[in-house]
Parts: sequence; C-alpha cells; structure tokens
Amino acid sequence: MTEKPKYNDTYYEFTQIESRLITLWNETEIKLSDIDPPIDWRMVFGNDNPVEIEVGCGKGRFLLEASKRCPEINYVGIERAPKYVQHTRERLLKHNAKKVLIVWSDAPYFVNCYVADNSVKAYHVYFPDPWPKKRQRKRRIFNNDLWIQGLIRTLQPNGGQIHIATDYAEYFHEIHDRLTQPPPLFYVPPDSMEMEHIPTNFEMKYVKEGREIYRAVFALRER
Ligand SMILES: C[S@@+](CC[C@H](N)C(=O)[O-])C[C@H]1O[C@@H](n2cnc3c(N)ncnc32)[C@H](O)[C@@H]1O
Repeated sequence: MTEKPKYNDTYYEFTQIESRLITLWNETEIKLSDIDPPIDWRMVFGNDNPVEIEVGCGKGRFLLEASKRCPEINYVGIERAPKYVQHTRERLLKHNAKKVLIVWSDAPYFVNCYVADNSVKAYHVYFPDPWPKKRQRKRRIFNNDLWIQGLIRTLQPNGGQIHIATDYAEYFHEIHDRLTQPPPLFYVPPDSMEMEHIPTNFEMKYVKEGREIYRAVFALRER
C-alpha cells in the first residue's frame, strides 16, 4: 500500500511539475523545469537593476505599490496558491505594472534550486502562514533550516535585507531568534530605514481588526 504523502511532500511534488515564471511584460509563462539553474536576473529583466523578492505575495498589493514607488528595482513575487497568482497577475496588468516577475512555486524550492548566490538585494515576507497549532508548527517557513540557509546564501553581502511583518507575536520572536542566532544576520532598528513600509492586504485587514503588527528588518553583515 502506498503511504499517503505528507503535507510538504504533496507541495513538493506539485511544485516540481507546475512551477513557472510568469513575465507580464511579454505575457510569457516558462516552466521552471525548462530552465537551467541558476536564474540569470539580467537575462530575465534585461537590465542590471537590484532584485527584491516578495515571498507569498497573496493578492499582490505590495508588489504593485513597491514597483510604482521604486521603478529602479526588479521585483519578483513568489506565490504557490494558483488563485493568488491569478489575482496578482490581474491586479498588476490592470494597473500596467508589467515589470514584475511572478513565480508560481513553493518559495523554498524556488530559492534553494534556482536563485544564484549573492543575487538578491532584499526579501519581503509579510504575514507568513503562522500555523498556530502546535502539531503544525513544523510547517512554518522559518522553521526550515534550508530556507534560512537559502536566504543567507542568495542575499547580497554587506547589507542584503529580509523584511518581516506578522500579527503573531510568538512567531515573530521565533523568526527573530532563528534569523539572528547565530549571525550573520542582525536586527536593524526601524528608525534607520529609508522607505516607509507598504501595507499588504493582510496588514490592512488586521489593522482594521485592531490587531498588533510586529515588524522587523534583518540585514546581512559582511561574510
Ligand atoms: C497569510 S497570506 C499573506 C499574503 C500577503 N503577504 C499579505 O500580507 O497580504 C500567506 C501567503 O503566502 C503564500 N505561501 C505560503 N507558503 C508559501 C510557500 N512556501 N511558497 C510560496 N507562497 C507561500 C500563501 O499562499 C498566501 O498567499
């Protein structure tokens, strides 16, 4: 009898078959399995601009606002849920924000298998699924050592950043500890940040409900 696949195995299998890059500017979808890793951002975007990646872009509000505010950044949104990929795609097209790359994939799979060393200026991870039940906590993305190693490997040395927001205090502290102990990442105090943050759909919903939001930036020290 075949064993029922575990939660992560199901996603992994789906990811390997279905993952694709969606380039809005020329309306193209490329299967990840047809690409030789690592991805050359210069080839994809046709320029040398810095790359910032949003993980779990949901309905695409951050990508839309950030790409309008910072046209000199190449934005990438990774999302694994097809309905949110579609939502983000339609939203960006509607507002003519076509210079964004959408990656329909599982973020750890994409980052670990396709993103080149030192090639990302910043990651944005807003309201990652908190998996509040004790038995589900192992599904948390920041509970995955390979994921954290992948972030560190792919960030630009000397200042590459990870931006985090969550409404879940206990998860926030866990993320803080997992990213900073041991180094090379360190916590950046909020008053040293240049750009005002862009609220995502989840943030707007939670603020309306009166929930507290925990937010932090972590940066990479020299390797
Ligand atoms: C709670 S929602 C937050 C959406 C958005 N960041 C916001 O703040 O409005 C979490 C999102 O992350 C996506 N997600 C969760 N795990 C993921 C993974 N491993 N890879 C890619 N996307 C993921 C979910 O599908 C969902 O869209």
